[in-house]
Formats: sequence, structure tokens, C-alpha cells
Amino acid sequence: MSATEILRKDHEQIKRLEKVVSKCYKELYAGKKIPISDIEKITMIISEFLDSIHYSREEDSYFPCVASYDSLKKEIRTFLIEHEFGRRIAQTISKHLSRWKNGEDAREPVARFLRTYSIFLNDHISKEEDFFAEAEKTVLSKEEEKEMYEQFSSVMAITKKIEDMIKEIDFLENQPWFKD
Ligand SMILES: [Fe+2]
Ligand SMILES: [Fe+2]
Repeated sequence: MSATEILRKDHEQIKRLEKVVSKCYKELYAGKKIPISDIEKITMIISEFLDSIHYSREEDSYFPCVASYDSLKKEIRTFLIEHEFGRRIAQTISKHLSRWKNGEDAREPVARFLRTYSIFLNDHISKEEDFFAEAEKTVLSKEEEKEMYEQFSSVMAITKKIEDMIKEIDFLENQPWFKD
């Protein structure tokens, strides 16, 4: 296994989450009932898996390593801006979700920002995968791939956290509103 493969594996889970997000906003627009606690699970997975683990693997290790070769810098700058954009959309979803929980009707903005998040994820992830292919083929050495891989998988607390997040995605995929 290499660092790039680990990031691709993260993306497989993120794509599962994107399908959940996408189904969720469509059902909300269609007026179907979705427990607020399920939407809270989505925002929790975004904050604990995407924002805290996956983006930091990219921002703190992978991107700096690629940039140290003076390569793909423009792409990396774009990805960093997009991560911030993603974090802001996620905060906006949470804000409207807590209004909704407190009795205001915030179904429409929650649906709208979930939709924005889904579009952001699809676009960001597909661009990054082209970037991974390029970095893997032309920039990173085998040693760097191995070193970062070891760094990614050495923190047991993070490995455990990812397992928990995958279980949460399993849970969401098994809810009636998702399966219908
Ligand atoms: Fe990213
Ligand atoms: Fe990524």
C-alpha cells in the first residue's frame, strides 16, 4: 500500500457519503420525512472524517510533499481553497439544521446546501483523483509513498475513527429513506 492508495480508499468512502447526501436533499425537496438525527449524522461524518482526517492527510502531508518538488502547485492551491469552501458549506448546513431542530422550518436551506455540498464533493474528488494519478506517476518517490503510508496508518485512534465513520455510512445506507 502507498499513501496515494490510502487517499483513494478515503475517496471510496467519501463517494458513498456523497450518494447519501444526494439522496437526502432529493427526498427533502420531494417533501419526504427524514429524521433530523440522520442529517446530523451526515454533518458529523463530514466534520470528523472529511474535515478532520482526510483533508488533514492531504493538507499536512500529501500536498506539501508534492509541492516540495515545485510541481502541481496551481492544483494544490485550488484544492486548499476548495477545502475551505467545503468547510463553509458544511458549517452552513449545521447552522440551518440546528434552526430546524429548534422548531423553525429550515427544510429548504438544509436541502439546498446539501445539494451544494454534493456538487462540490463530486467536482473536488474527481479533480483530485486526476491529481493523485499524476503525483503518483511523475512526482512522488516509492520511499515517500511508503513513509506517508506508514504515517497515515500508524495512529490507531485515527484508524479506529475511520472504522466508526464507515459504520455510520453503513447505517445511513440502510435507512428506509435511502433505500426507497
Ligand atoms: Fe481534498
Ligand atoms: Fe481528497
